[in-house]
Amino acid sequence: MYSDKTKTIQIEPLPEDLALQAIDVYHVYGLEHQNKVVALKGVSFDIKRSEILGIIGPSGSGKSTLLLSLGGMLKPSAGQIFYSDGTDITKLAEEKQFEYRRHNIGYVFQEQNLIPYLSAEKNIEMPMRLVNLNRSKRKQRVKELMEILGIWHRRTHSPKRISGGEQQRVSIARALANNPRLIFADEPTGNVDTETSTQILELFKELKEDMGTSYLICSHDPIVSDFSERTLEIRDGILIGEHLQDIDLTDLDSSRFLVIDNQNRITLPEKAISELRGSLLYTWTMTEDGLLLKPLRKLDESKESKIKNCTTCGADIPKGVYSCSRCGAKLTRVVR
Ligand SMILES: Nc1ncnc2c1ncn2[C@@H]1O[C@H](COP(=O)(O)OP(=O)(O)O)[C@@H](O)[C@H]1O
Ligand SMILES: [Mg+2]
Repeated sequence: MYSDKTKTIQIEPLPEDLALQAIDVYHVYGLEHQNKVVALKGVSFDIKRSEILGIIGPSGSGKSTLLLSLGGMLKPSAGQIFYSDGTDITKLAEEKQFEYRRHNIGYVFQEQNLIPYLSAEKNIEMPMRLVNLNRSKRKQRVKELMEILGIWHRRTHSPKRISGGEQQRVSIARALANNPRLIFADEPTGNVDTETSTQILELFKELKEDMGTSYLICSHDPIVSDFSERTLEIRDGILIGEHLQDIDLTDLDSSRFLVIDNQNRITLPEKAISELRGSLLYTWTMTEDGLLLKPLRKLDESKESKIKNCTTCGADIPKGVYSCSRCGAKLTRVVR
């Protein structure tokens, strides 16, 4: 239960097996009078308890925005984000949000976000200071984490005096310091070699097994997708697919389950769209095997040839292709 000045809100915990539930989360960037970017367009999903959930998608698809929104660092334009105790983080006042985050969430940022004038060990200690953990416990935990991550010899160095990979490990140690139940990690293995990536993920797994910690990790690293129990696929701010284990990042079509999302949208794979050759209207029938889509009429091929260049980057586009192989932009299927 929590209250603001005007009302007291009774909150219900989520079902036992859930660590987080996001419902129809939108985020729009851009101030009034500016061009707006709708970075998240109604994203809904659950993170299970003790789950390592991955998230993949091209650059600019909304991964970082989603992680920041879930952690309460960005206020979503619309939607709800429930934590396991039933708290909707989007409804908390700012100072309550800080407090809630400190106790419940660990965050590994894409940019490490370390405090530049504090040593590595002081950076890691900071979240424990904020929850008033006593000094000896703080020191013990810092040592433990720094040793596991192989950065103990760097403890007195400031962030700018250590390498990118070491900064990343400091940032991971800081995220793990308070043993949070939920960890968001944005490209956590981006700056480190394969061996360190494996070490970091082993550490994540250990914490998951010991403490029931859940993870949402956005990454393009095959080591991370091998490690994830489930992977969500985001494109243009919409969740379009879900993958179980054994993903081949170079052939996502082979492992993708299509998602019909909370708003009844389904995004067909590029390959399917090419096969359908750009027709706009379909009839649908339920068959014994599932849904059958049939183009209402054949596309007028003389019109199709008019899509020649990507409107975003200008690359040549072969006939019958509806996304740009160079920049990934979707091409309009409406030919004028
Ligand atoms: N601070 C910002 N202001 C305006 N637009 C932004 C800002 N941050 C991100 N965007 C835009 O939002 C979209 C999603 O970005 P982001 O969440 O960073 O994607 P990803 O992490 O998948 O690369 C992109 O179109 C990006 O240009
Ligand atoms: Mg990003």
